[in-house]
Amino acid sequence: MEVTFVLQDKTTRTVEAEPGWKLMEVAVDNAVPGIDGDCGGEAACATCHVYVSPQWREATGERTSDEQAMLDNTFGVREDSRLCCQITTDEELDGLIVEVVGS
Ligand code: FES
Repeated sequence: MEVTFVLQDKTTRTVEAEPGWKLMEVAVDNAVPGIDGDCGGEAACATCHVYVSPQWREATGERTSDEQAMLDNTFGVREDSRLCCQITTDEELDGLIVEVVGS
């Protein structure tokens, strides 16, 4: 499957992703700028903050409670904000597009 990250300079980076990984891990493995994953995927740092494209909002599901708590204390949060360590890749997300917010 493929995932496209829209970077802070508005260029895009499309990468291959194996199903079953955290989207944050996919980004870090591919050195996507602006996704650091400092807490290792525990929804505790917000260095994996992304905005999910409208057509992918439903497929990526709801925020977890830990994620919501972190986002409540994060700058630049919008309705489409997610911590991408809380999104697991699967084939249904093939073609996913997210915008990197950065921290
Ligand atoms: Fe820390 Fe996602 S990696 S909140």
